[in-house]
Amino acid sequence: MNIDEILNKEEFSRADIIYLLSLSNQEEKDKLAAKAYEVKKQYIGNIVYFRGLIEYSNICDKDCLYCGIRKENDKVDRYVVSDEEVLEAAKFAYENKYGSIVIQSGELETENFINKIDNLIKKIKELSNGELGITLSCGEQTEEVYKRWFESGAHRYLLRIESSNKRLYEIIHPIDPLHNFERRLDCLKSLRRVGFQVGTGVMIGLPFQSVGDLADDLLFLKAMDVDMVGMGPYIEHEDTPLYQFKDKLMPKTERLNLALRMIAVLRIMMKDINIASATALQAIDGVGREKGIKLGANIIMPNLTPTKYREGYQLYEDKPCMDEEAADCMNCLEARIHLAGDKIGYGEWGDSKHFDGRK
Ligand code: 5AD
Ligand code: FES
Repeated sequence: MNIDEILNKEEFSRADIIYLLSLSNQEEKDKLAAKAYEVKKQYIGNIVYFRGLIEYSNICDKDCLYCGIRKENDKVDRYVVSDEEVLEAAKFAYENKYGSIVIQSGELETENFINKIDNLIKKIKELSNGELGITLSCGEQTEEVYKRWFESGAHRYLLRIESSNKRLYEIIHPIDPLHNFERRLDCLKSLRRVGFQVGTGVMIGLPFQSVGDLADDLLFLKAMDVDMVGMGPYIEHEDTPLYQFKDKLMPKTERLNLALRMIAVLRIMMKDINIASATALQAIDGVGREKGIKLGANIIMPNLTPTKYREGYQLYEDKPCMDEEAADCMNCLEARIHLAGDKIGYGEWGDSKHFDGRK
């Protein structure tokens, strides 16, 4: 089997995907990259959409073994962004023609949390004449809650599966009802039933994860027929239980390159979905997010969280943009995207073409 034959196939087999993820020859890597960018250009254009990211709260009921803001990490000062500050950030996004925002948060299922998110969705819709698109990334909730938030005006939802391999999922999460693999899957199905554009994704370079696992992850995304994907390298965090396996990890640059190849292969497999160039790419390489765009990603999430809270939202080490004000991140990303040769889709929602096609 050679690279040209594989790249011209209609569907990749598991073995094809493993071959592509394992490429080491530069000429072959260039061919994969060129194909991914060509597919992106042909199916969705070389346009990148902004999603202004508001990291709403780091208060979390969960104890995922990889995450810096897990409940048991008592080194973290917990915060909730005030409603006024959220609305101000949304206003900034609206005025700067971002098109959409993402509200991401530590996971809580309390009535208070659910109401506050609901209220913010309505207020953001109001202040933007219904024009600002709202993506939520607020974890596992009941279908009823998802429905409420959808009816209030959110229309996209991100919930990463983290790993589609149940065995690995149970290595990186506590085994208890709060961290149940099946519930995560059920939530993804609920979100679809409710009408959301559904996004999921995985971490790349986890301890005990093989290239075969990653190939299965890509096949999982395809089988789930998702509308959006966000995936990035796993980056160890000192104050988490998974840190004990840091010696078992591949070097960071290899994790980065693998994550970039995952994006490229996924773009060829799922031609018209939205793929985010994850912030974690830039934690390893100063131009990691540009590289993601070059390899097929079309979404970037400039950080809008008021800077005084950012220290509190360190999911992993070396997270970029810790001190930059919203306007700085915007200018920086604009320059980065243009350098990568793409345009920015200002003032548009930039919905997943894949979702539109399914309707
Ligand atoms: N390294 C990389 N990504 C992480 N996330 C959480 N912790 C880490 C880490 N240590 C990702 C998870 C989660 C998203 C919000 O951040 O995939 O879904
Ligand atoms: Fe935030 Fe460059 S993207 S400073």
